[in-house]
Amino acid sequence: MMPTITVLPHDSLAPQGASFEASSGVSLCQQLLDHGIDIEHACGMVAACTTCHVIVREGFNRLPMSGDEEDDMLDKAWGLTANSRLSCQINPVEVDLTIELPRYTINHARE
Ligand code: FES
Repeated sequence: MMPTITVLPHDSLAPQGASFEASSGVSLCQQLLDHGIDIEHACGMVAACTTCHVIVREGFNRLPMSGDEEDDMLDKAWGLTANSRLSCQINPVEVDLTIELPRYTINHARE
């Protein structure tokens, strides 16, 4: 059984929320895109921006720890919480997750 990814409703990106089965070998960010949730990913999913920031409301403690690059970028994210992650760095998704999409994003991509 693959884990389930649940997305809480977000005004513009997912007005009804969403719930789908995780795919193997694909980052959380890509999986959101694959399910029509148009999350930003300005740096091309290499932990060099904060636009793919998500707040993990359930499952956070079962995820592998974030890396140094991810932590450095997260410090600059709008609306940082103790349960924040960069969705492009969660790969693969191996546990059930409930995530919230922040209201705003800031693009810190290095040019
Ligand atoms: Fe830039 Fe994830 S897409 S950090």
